[in-house]
Amino acid sequence: MGDKKKCMVICVCMDDDCKDRKARKVRQRFRESVEARGLSESVKVKKCSCLGNCKHGPVVEVKPGGKQYEEVKPKSADAILDELFD
Ligand code: FES
Repeated sequence: MGDKKKCMVICVCMDDDCKDRKARKVRQRFRESVEARGLSESVKVKKCSCLGNCKHGPVVEVKPGGKQYEEVKPKSADAILDELFD
């Protein structure tokens, strides 16, 4: 922890289509889950503009790597974090 090389960014698209599909709640849930896991130092949850996959929103992109998750629901945040930190 605190190692810059390991810093990860979880980008939640907050552009129109994703926002209409509750992206705000998705972002909030990611923030809460990251904090609950004590990962706030190494994982940043940010909003980003359109990721070009609007039909499958809300879309979440993880950097580095650029892996995208589609149709993310707030309750999916924990499963995604489990996958990322397995
Ligand atoms: S609006 Fe979210 S991917 Fe385009």
